[in-house]
Amino acid sequence: MADSIGGVTELTLTTKNVARIQADAVVVAVGQRGEEAVLLPGSPLPSAAETALTRLLPALGVTGKADEVTRVAAGKELAADVVVLTGVGPVTETGPDLETLRRAAGAATRSLTGTADVVLALPADTAERVGAVAEGALLGTYSFDRYRTTHRAPVARIELATDLARSKEAKAAHARAVVVAEAVAGTRDLVNASPSDLYPESFAEEATAAAKGTKVKVSVLDEKALEAGGYGGLIGVGRGSARPPRLVKLSYSPARAKAHVGLVGKGITFDSGGLSIKPAKGMETMKMDMAGAATVLHTVLAAAALELPVKVTGWLALAENMPSGTAQRPSDVITIRGGKTVEVLNTDAEGRLVMADALVAAGEENPDVIVDIATLTGAQMVALGSQVGAVMGTDDVRDEVVAAATAAGEQFWPMPLPAELAESMKSQVADIANMGDRFGGMLVAGLFLKEFVGETPWAHLDIAGPAFNEGKPRGYTAEGGTGTGLRTLLQYLEHRTR
Ligand code: BES
Ligand code: MN
Ligand code: ZN
Repeated sequence: MADSIGGVTELTLTTKNVARIQADAVVVAVGQRGEEAVLLPGSPLPSAAETALTRLLPALGVTGKADEVTRVAAGKELAADVVVLTGVGPVTETGPDLETLRRAAGAATRSLTGTADVVLALPADTAERVGAVAEGALLGTYSFDRYRTTHRAPVARIELATDLARSKEAKAAHARAVVVAEAVAGTRDLVNASPSDLYPESFAEEATAAAKGTKVKVSVLDEKALEAGGYGGLIGVGRGSARPPRLVKLSYSPARAKAHVGLVGKGITFDSGGLSIKPAKGMETMKMDMAGAATVLHTVLAAAALELPVKVTGWLALAENMPSGTAQRPSDVITIRGGKTVEVLNTDAEGRLVMADALVAAGEENPDVIVDIATLTGAQMVALGSQVGAVMGTDDVRDEVVAAATAAGEQFWPMPLPAELAESMKSQVADIANMGDRFGGMLVAGLFLKEFVGETPWAHLDIAGPAFNEGKPRGYTAEGGTGTGLRTLLQYLEHRTR
């Protein structure tokens, strides 16, 4: 195993002269100026090294486009063995934006798996940029090896070169980046875990273990307590599985909290569809259907680690959606916590059922705002593709969450909740059905959740697409679980402290 602190690669800030640091690799940024690839102005390399390298760029085939990483042997001007050129795209007057820096740093560290000592000589002239480079670099070192018998060692040590290494702001940005990277890695690990290992009970145990020694309190409702408490959504969905459901409550309650935020996460540890069973292909990635719950768990832990002055109550709605002789049937009527009845027309629309219970529970604590996050609908991907998440809800909360996403470097887009679509969920026998119009399926699901939120200001994040990378690794994003949403939720909590 590589040296690591709390699971992520060790990263330190340094004011040392980059040229003199002995390392396996030194990473520099290369951009595009017109057709030409150029080292970014103000690169910390000695000018002889810079001139030599610049001359080589065309022959090396370096274009400077984003996500392009090229390794070359370092010249004698450098103490490091290898120079890694990481692309940032078109050069602009203001320099690369923060997300471009995260991705460029992450693409570089991702490509350096197996390399021990790496120096980052990327633009880091403000505390914000120090934070972005550190965050991207640490996210890029992630790999999921739990089930591999052969391990590829991730980067062991990273030194980030910056004149600000001793500044208080840069140190704080660095510390925050470490917390974010740990939280995203923790989220990805849960998403990537085999659903035979991660089921409601073991998820609840993991949450309890992860919170041990932190300021987060955990309480777990088991199937008996759920039954007694009238949590008909979790019970109904969990009924088909040999592994009973759980509702986990996480409380971080600092003194002098500026606000109280309720966070609710969908935690379907495997979604087979239930009796309305999915085709085999559609089931392959359905271990990721607990990404919302994983994100909530690690957001609460990160808020506590950063000692944010905001009270956060997290809810993990955990169940496994399986078909069996005891499974709920299409046409079954269930009663959600609080008393509303639902006709279950399609057992594959299970997320909204467990979320309904958890949203009602969250509302009972009278938070100032509720934000939920769920891999809720395939329609989310039809609407926005696999990399952009959706935000619905109360107008101002929705817009604040979208703003938080933009600030955090995640892609989320506002979506409406058109009242007329709600009519399509009318049931012949119950208060509401769990299915409505196929068109606008993501919005229908959002409108269903709205029924259980009550008067509390609220936003709903649908991350069906961005939670899981089925494509090639890119930037700081590995294959599989991405942790998308965590940075947005954390940024939103930070915003609520102001
Ligand atoms: N977990 C799925 C949504 C999903 C699909 C997430 C693909 C990620 C990738 C959810 O439980 C589901 O099955 N939704 C149904 C709802 C439908 C039956 C109304 C869907 O989207 O098809
Ligand atoms: Mn489903
Ligand atoms: Zn689902």
